[in-house]
Amino acid sequence: MSAREKLIVALDFATADAGMKTAEKLFGRVGMFKVGSELFTRAGPSLGRDLIARGQQVFLDLKFHDIPSTVRGACRQAAEMGVRMVNVHASGGRKMMEAAAEGARQGPSGRLPWVLAVTVLTSLGPEDLGELGVLGTPEEVVVRWARLAQAAGLDGVVASGREISAIRRVCGPGFVIVTPGIRPMTSSSNDQARTTTPAAAIAAGADYLVVGRPITAAPDPAAAAAIIVREMEEAATSLRAS
Ligand code: C5P
Repeated sequence: MSAREKLIVALDFATADAGMKTAEKLFGRVGMFKVGSELFTRAGPSLGRDLIARGQQVFLDLKFHDIPSTVRGACRQAAEMGVRMVNVHASGGRKMMEAAAEGARQGPSGRLPWVLAVTVLTSLGPEDLGELGVLGTPEEVVVRWARLAQAAGLDGVVASGREISAIRRVCGPGFVIVTPGIRPMTSSSNDQARTTTPAAAIAAGADYLVVGRPITAAPDPAAAAAIIVREMEEAATSLRAS
């Protein structure tokens, strides 16, 4: 898979029109577009559907967390819509994740979308987990829940840069790792507290990178994407050489 195909752009816009305008500048230059809850709540599935109709791949980032039958139905709808990836919270438990995987397989392709688990939100620290009664450090919980997601039949996880190596170690090479919080060397971190460069994420074993504002807020999104793709290519080349 090429570096370009591994780059997912987060379309965190207030309207579908604004999202599509930026996406159009990136057609053929990135691998996928991520539609999240803000835009989905505002515009519904229209942007995702339009992107798919125009031959683009879509990651529906709605982080489902509900009783198993509801999540099964939601994942089946995502499959019907034709998205490539959808996600659920691992904290919904094994049965919910199994139902999510089943629902995703009930779509027209029978194989897609991939269902990814969100383990511990990166906004949660040790005190938050303690307050919730969750045992262990965030790192321990991330690994425990990633294994559970894999055992439940999910295809992979969304994980921050600092979690990639530990998850790769326990879940093996076939488990998909999608990493947000990416900032190229030259960009500002915005509100992301713990960022990883594209090269470091690829070197640590990420399969896909999610990048939002460094591309979508750039004066020339296509040029910003090209710089990131180049950085990913260089990291992949030195990985192959090592
Ligand atoms: O603009 P930026 O590159 O920070 O966007 C990152 C995207 O990835 C956002 O859509 C954000 O919701 C998502 N995300 C994240 N950190 C996580 C999980 C998802 O930034 N741990």
